[in-house]
Amino acid sequence: MLGNLNNKIALITGGGQGLGLGIVKRMAEQGADIVIADINNNNTLDAKEIVEKLGNSAWTSYMDVTDKLSIKNSIEEIISNTKRIDILVNNAGVAGAAGSTGTFFRDIDWEFTWKVNVKGVADVTEAVLPYMLKRKYGKIINISSVAARAAKYTTAYYATTKMSVIAYTQALAREFASQNINVNAIAPGRIWTAFHQDWMEERDKLGDDVVKGRDRYEVFLESLREVIPMGRPQTPSDIGALAAFLASEDASNITGQTIQCDGGQVMV
Ligand SMILES: NC(=O)c1ccc[n+]([C@@H]2O[C@H](COP(=O)([O-])OP(=O)(O)OC[C@H]3O[C@@H](n4cnc5c(N)ncnc54)[C@H](O)[C@@H]3O)[C@@H](O)[C@H]2O)c1
Repeated sequence: MLGNLNNKIALITGGGQGLGLGIVKRMAEQGADIVIADINNNNTLDAKEIVEKLGNSAWTSYMDVTDKLSIKNSIEEIISNTKRIDILVNNAGVAGAAGSTGTFFRDIDWEFTWKVNVKGVADVTEAVLPYMLKRKYGKIINISSVAARAAKYTTAYYATTKMSVIAYTQALAREFASQNINVNAIAPGRIWTAFHQDWMEERDKLGDDVVKGRDRYEVFLESLREVIPMGRPQTPSDIGALAAFLASEDASNITGQTIQCDGGQVMV
């Protein structure tokens, strides 16, 4: 089986919904036991149940990736339960601070987005790395975005954070390659999750004509048809499949890469 994750333990941040949940499900299907770390306790319990129904072990842990103490407590709790972390997926991310519409720049959007999407990724990684280094084994997968390389329908602050994730991935990959730690990134295209749904609600409140009174999913499809050669959205399962592959021994000589899963929007 390609992407075999039997006997592996995978920690997925923001694993309670959206892309994170797609990664949780796919990694569990490939055999991994799963830890779901999220700021939202309700969605983690649902995710745990899904994993357990597949016959795998699952744990949940409250973690706010913007708070170092919360990360420390969470990782200690996880390690006391699982004894190790083989795979870390830094998936938790935001498109802006509350009320962001992307139509104008606010300091709070720059600061909050940086705190979650970049500093959050680095802080969680640095909390997990010592346990991987001790065993000279680890797979780290960071979720970037098509926004890093194609700046249509995104904001400057979001694109900047997702490009930073790529730079961080490369720096980390080089630094820890000799310790048998693989670090890669995935750049997803467009997936219909709360991420887009919330953004459209905000645009509607502001009276944006493109959204006003229209079916949200139709607006989403319309915008992606303009930029995605394959003309269709990507799914949480697509991202999960790629993450499972990168976390498996099939990808043991792939490190420092960012792989687009975006229906051909970016070709590099
Ligand atoms: N949806 C897309 O089209 C798309 C495209 C490219 C990249 N991405 C990236 O994929 C990742 C997941 O996005 P999504 O669409 O599933 O979003 P989502 O909003 O549906 O889910 C995000 C998850 O992260 C959790 N989270 C948010 N802030 C957190 C924090 N401070 N600490 C811990 N957990 C936190 C949320 O509770 C939620 O479970 C993000 O990094 C996003 O930038 C999404």
